[in-house]
Amino acid sequence: MICLGIEGTAHTFGIGIVDSRGNILANVTKTYLPKQGGIHPREAAQFHAANAKTALVEALKSAKLKARDIDLVAFSAGPGLGPCLRTAATAARALACWLDVPIISVNHCIAHIEIGRLIEGAKDPVTLYVSGGNTQVIAFDAGRYRVFGETLDIPIGNCLDVFAREVGLPHPGGPQVERLAREGENYIPLPYVVKGMDLSFSGLMTEAVRKYKDGADLRDICFSLQETAFAALVEVTERALAHTEKREVMLTGGVAANQRLREMMRLMAEEHGARFYVPPREFCQDCGANIAWTGLLAYTHGARQRLEETVVRQRWRTDEVDILWR
Ligand code: ATP
Ligand code: FE2
Repeated sequence: MICLGIEGTAHTFGIGIVDSRGNILANVTKTYLPKQGGIHPREAAQFHAANAKTALVEALKSAKLKARDIDLVAFSAGPGLGPCLRTAATAARALACWLDVPIISVNHCIAHIEIGRLIEGAKDPVTLYVSGGNTQVIAFDAGRYRVFGETLDIPIGNCLDVFAREVGLPHPGGPQVERLAREGENYIPLPYVVKGMDLSFSGLMTEAVRKYKDGADLRDICFSLQETAFAALVEVTERALAHTEKREVMLTGGVAANQRLREMMRLMAEEHGARFYVPPREFCQDCGANIAWTGLLAYTHGARQRLEETVVRQRWRTDEVDILWR
């Protein structure tokens, strides 16, 4: 069986094609870059609509397939930005109708975990999923992916991006902060907020900007921002690991590109005798392949959907999905 997956929750419009053995036949992504400032949902949605056809043609070509070879269409139905989600969903519905094949909705966060399990061979990891739109510590328990901890306000990637914008660094901010942090030497105390198992980054972001306006060295602020935010992320992941007694830790999402975060997570995993996995960058970021693979898993384990049931869900939570394939 061959599944085509469509991703379009935020910046990235992606089309991936996978087969039932887990071979990734194509993974084409088109990423909207705002000219200035943050993401504008309607502009991103227009970008997706304008790029959908090219992405589809490129994906089929790269998989050396014809549209008629597709047996199933999967799409990311949430969580994400309304206009973007609706555009991707419309593309998926149109394609499924035209090809006369089944359609299946996929939860974006779960897709990040499933592609990591496929590619890295992790079986049952505690996953730290960190990106511009999400920050969650997730582990499988009793039929669902449970959220053990999450941000109560802004996601970590957004914290880094907004901080960067406020101090005049280009978008995306994460890599800029990482680059400057390497040159930082002095730790400047910043608010470290872990509430129970949950996290908060907005106070940290505001305070880091204030330190910059007060004249502190930007390299020291970047260093301190990373150390503070990442220590909080690692602390919550570590507690989830100890609680669940799992033997694997996975780091994914766009912020997983950060070498310092990887190092801190790896050390923590090692201290617990757990294996540590980070999927290759292509599969940490948003893409169609993870949607295709998760849709295929769901379908081959009995999930079915009528077209009317393919509504998008902006706030679709990770722990609301019954996992039929585990
Ligand atoms: P999602 O829909 O999963 O929330 P997204 O739209 O944020 O994803 P991604 O590509 O997964 O897209 O992640 C982008 C985020 O990753 C941005 O916030 C960016 O600053 C951050 N990022 C990228 N590289 C690094 C890095 N080296 N260090 C820290 N953050 C990084
Ligand atoms: Fe994502």
